[in-house]
Amino acid sequence: MSHDLSTRASDARELMDDPNADIAMLERTYERFRLVNALVSGPGEFYRRDIRPRARRGPIRILDIGAGGGDVCRMIAARLQRDGLTAEITALDADERAIRWASAQDGGSGVRYRRALSEELVAEGEQYDVVFSNHLLHHLTTQELQSLLLDSRRLVGEDGLVVHRDIARSRAAYMLYSAVTWLVSGVLLRGSFIREDGLISIRRSYTSKELTSIVPPGWTVRFSLPSRLELRHNGRAGR
Ligand SMILES: C[S@@+](CC[C@H](N)C(=O)[O-])C[C@H]1O[C@@H](n2cnc3c(N)ncnc32)[C@H](O)[C@@H]1O
Repeated sequence: MSHDLSTRASDARELMDDPNADIAMLERTYERFRLVNALVSGPGEFYRRDIRPRARRGPIRILDIGAGGGDVCRMIAARLQRDGLTAEITALDADERAIRWASAQDGGSGVRYRRALSEELVAEGEQYDVVFSNHLLHHLTTQELQSLLLDSRRLVGEDGLVVHRDIARSRAAYMLYSAVTWLVSGVLLRGSFIREDGLISIRRSYTSKELTSIVPPGWTVRFSLPSRLELRHNGRAGR
């Protein structure tokens, strides 16, 4: 089916967000996020550029909002351990099903898993050195996005770093993802929502221009290949 990619498909719903989604398909989707993230999200670069330099100054607190299967948190925990560095990492998700699955996969990484919204952490007075998300922004309404940005700034105070990473919507990204996932859909992606939800995610995502036009002052938007957006707010310590 051909879709209009010129505007955000904010009404399109991802299958994984359905409370009645098939649980085996959903869990296979959480499991496959690890592969998707390794291929497109650049978690290693994020670790080297934004986490490791801060952890070298002393123990830090890290929060992942919308952590899904928790693979990015576990990867960061493993790299920190390898590098002899210390951090407390919290994987937060609004969906109990994600938290249940992610904590069952943990295998002693030390990551803490919690079902909550960012506003609850703000109300509790929690503070972190780094707050990040990956593939969360496109799930949110514009109002929810504004609340997330406010919450994430409050959660890092004056000094911390906020990094929200997501897909950049484009016809090229849609066509490429469609072709690649079609080729592997019968094997690697079988029994998951990765292909369908990925296509919906691209349609729901922002372009760099759209995101820039709606974020408050102090945030920067950066585009990178392959069709990625990064929304950053650098605290004083990162300047
Ligand atoms: C596409 S998944 C991404 C998971 C993970 N960050 C990754 O990169 O693989 C989006 C996740 O965000 C969660 N989510 C959606 N809205 C949320 C919110 N307002 N607060 C916290 N989590 C949310 C969903 O439950 C889902 O697990």
